[in-house]
Amino acid sequence: QKGGYPHFMLKEIHEQPTAFHNTVSPRIVDGLPNFACDKICDEDLRRFERVVVVACGTAMHSGYVGQYLIERLARLPVTVEIASEFRYKNPILNRDKDLVIIVSQSGETADTLAALRLAKKQGVFVLGIVNVVGSSIAREADAVIYTWAGPEIAVASTKAYTVQISVMYLLAIKFAMLRGFADEAFAREYTSNLMSVEEHIAEILKDSQSFQFYASKLQNAHDLFYLGRGLDYALAMEGSLKLKEITYIHSEAYAAGELKHGPISLIVDGTPVIALGTQKSLFEKMASNIKEVKSRGACVFLICDDTCENTAQIADFVIKLPALPEIFMPLLSVAPLQLLAYYTSILRGCDVDKPRNLAKSVTVE
Ligand code: F6R
Repeated sequence: QKGGYPHFMLKEIHEQPTAFHNTVSPRIVDGLPNFACDKICDEDLRRFERVVVVACGTAMHSGYVGQYLIERLARLPVTVEIASEFRYKNPILNRDKDLVIIVSQSGETADTLAALRLAKKQGVFVLGIVNVVGSSIAREADAVIYTWAGPEIAVASTKAYTVQISVMYLLAIKFAMLRGFADEAFAREYTSNLMSVEEHIAEILKDSQSFQFYASKLQNAHDLFYLGRGLDYALAMEGSLKLKEITYIHSEAYAAGELKHGPISLIVDGTPVIALGTQKSLFEKMASNIKEVKSRGACVFLICDDTCENTAQIADFVIKLPALPEIFMPLLSVAPLQLLAYYTSILRGCDVDKPRNLAKSVTVE
């Protein structure tokens, strides 16, 4: 059942190249994103002037990636809402101009389903990004883009997140074309870059040893910080959640620029900091944030691409990834974050597939 892996979580981490392939390739026709297999045509998407992503936990974190992508490529405003907040705040929605995207692996999360029903009641078009076929959210949404990750058994979501963000890339490129921010050549180039990700993820997953080593440096930590800017901040949120849920180590994600507005007071000698530095255009700023925490004694793990130079001077440990245009780096940095959490959990003797107090699907409020 675990396909030779000791835990479902590790199996599911390793299934990511296949999950990515199964989700992305049916939606690329003639080298461009195409949602015909989801019965969504260009005319359905053209009228929207705002996107509201509503979800919980990891699924919500995929919304933050979507926000950066869609705003950057298509200049279409995106807000991301916590489903349990959205449902009780009498949200402002415009039935003619807003697209509500509901993201859910299980398709059964109570708050997310309630958010969907609320949006539908207000007459807003609801698009579900869902992994479980025939689930409540898939049935009730106006349109569904299924993620083809296959069953996810481990409580901590891994491959479902990767395919959720893959769909966000496809949507961002599609919206960019529809709104005149990408011509065909540009969209083709982005789509082909996206397709190249699969082999890079597979390559990254071959190296489990170094993650076991990094995990040995984290296993006794009490507090941990994840820092990033731009898309790296969105990934920091997901990395931090993954670590805390399966290792029970307290961790926080911060936009690196927020550090000096409070959290830097928590950095003491030896505090581990996972610094995401995959966004080339922001690297210099990130490097100065890393220096700030280092000078307060932090032990810095830097995740960056393999073209970054002089990294040994700023970080204690460096995790280098294949260099792609920065916008695609989230698809490569997610696996290292998952592996760090996984191996740290193992070293701490935690029940990695079934962490305490957590259920796979939160079907009650
Ligand atoms: C974290 C995790 C949860 C879920 C959240 C939403 O690893 O799995 O945060 O992402 O409960 O679940 P779905 O996607 O089923 O709506």
